[in-house]
Amino acid sequence: MATDYIVKDISLADFGRKELDIAETEMPGLMALREEYGAQQPLKGARIVGSLHMTIQTACLIETLVALGADVRWASCNIFSTQDHAAAAIAQAGVPVFAIKGQSLEEHWDYLDKSFLFPEGPNMILDDGGDATLYVLLGARAEAGEDLGVPTSEEEEVIHKQIAKRMAESPGWFTKTREAIMGVSEETTTGVHRLYDLQKNGQLPFPAINVNDSVTKSKFDNKYGCKESLVDGIRRATDTMMAGKVAVVCGYGDVGKGSAASLAGAGARVKVTEADPICALQAAMDGFEVVLLEESLDADIFITTTGNKDVIRIEHMREMKDMAIVGNIGHFDNEIQVASLKNHKWTNIKEQVDMIEMPNGNRLILLSEGRLLNLGNATGHPSFVMSASFTNQVLAQIELFTKGEQYNNEVYILPKHLDEKVAALHLSKVGAKLSKLTPEQAAYIGVTPEGPFKPEHYRY
Ligand code: NAI
Repeated sequence: MATDYIVKDISLADFGRKELDIAETEMPGLMALREEYGAQQPLKGARIVGSLHMTIQTACLIETLVALGADVRWASCNIFSTQDHAAAAIAQAGVPVFAIKGQSLEEHWDYLDKSFLFPEGPNMILDDGGDATLYVLLGARAEAGEDLGVPTSEEEEVIHKQIAKRMAESPGWFTKTREAIMGVSEETTTGVHRLYDLQKNGQLPFPAINVNDSVTKSKFDNKYGCKESLVDGIRRATDTMMAGKVAVVCGYGDVGKGSAASLAGAGARVKVTEADPICALQAAMDGFEVVLLEESLDADIFITTTGNKDVIRIEHMREMKDMAIVGNIGHFDNEIQVASLKNHKWTNIKEQVDMIEMPNGNRLILLSEGRLLNLGNATGHPSFVMSASFTNQVLAQIELFTKGEQYNNEVYILPKHLDEKVAALHLSKVGAKLSKLTPEQAAYIGVTPEGPFKPEHYRY
């Protein structure tokens, strides 16, 4: 249906298509999968709900899924991350997409709902952060008579309303949809945490593939992706001089490592906060001062990367210096206590940049209202690194759709030979040549010349 989409401006489609053409030249993994599986059509019959930042790179993922036979409907997983020209190009290509940069929370959950509305219902989910999965499971629990409780946030209130609306319009819809889903592939750390929680509580109703913990995802996208896109976001938002400034990065996991490297590369003096002694020691030995946030509130830039809540709290922000920049690159907006700033004076500078006056007269520059700033203030990670992530996504969708019955309702990681295959598909683009082990060398280190080259416990 040509009009089955909600985008900002369909006339942006040509611009989107031109950028998509460029992205294709930087996404060798996805293009190789089109080549390898195009004729075979392994996703024929798959009806995939996609809930993932609607960017140019995601457009290339969507067109790969379609090239492999899938029907796809798409929503963004964040209200600020859509690139309107990417959404327009995808709509123009005939894929139903519901995403506008700057959509309201109500629109966000309505658009997610719309992405489920295949005439025959969906049978697969491709998730980023777990909202699509949450929507179906929470709705099914409500249909089973469970009281969802009093919402604890504005967003939760919106979700409950959206669920009530769908239940009124289509009784039994959530339960039917949950039963039809053959599997979910999950993109990010935060979504993966949610899946393992469901598994632990015996509440995971279908198999799931944890794409995040493919080595070629978290050790590349989370790290090298943020290394490029964090500073990009801060610069586009503020044009501030980074060199010489003091920046505090909260968390030194994969995203924290990339973020600290990003700021250090721009000349900032970087401090790190950590709760995990291993990551704290890594930060120290990478040359960063490991500090307590409470003792470092005189810094210029504060970035949260933890996937945790209430990391930068109101009592911290009250102590910050005038014009300190505060932003988050973790998945959800609860890392910074933005709600506690609501009764302060806000001055909007431009889209996704606000200046907030604190009671002592100091002003803070808050990026993307505390939502992930590399996608809100810039355009997310470059295509090349997203190609590695999304090649894992496509392999996970093929695996779950074609061999789902071989999986239990648990969370799986793709086998190492596929992880190595994803990396191999990206080598020639960067001019890398791979050494070949002789059979004797391979036997000596206990592998085969074709790989896998590492045991499961190896950590990279
Ligand atoms: P991770 O688990 O590797 O790292 C998080 C680190 O934060 C851990 O080392 C943990 O010990 C630390 N931490 C937790 N609470 C803390 C606190 N209160 N103070 C200091 N440190 C604390 O997770 P990863 O992969 O680095 O992801 C972090 C977040 O970023 C997740 O929400 C993930 O979904 C998101 N993400 C965002 C991307 C983007 O492009 N914006 C890309 C990839 C992931």
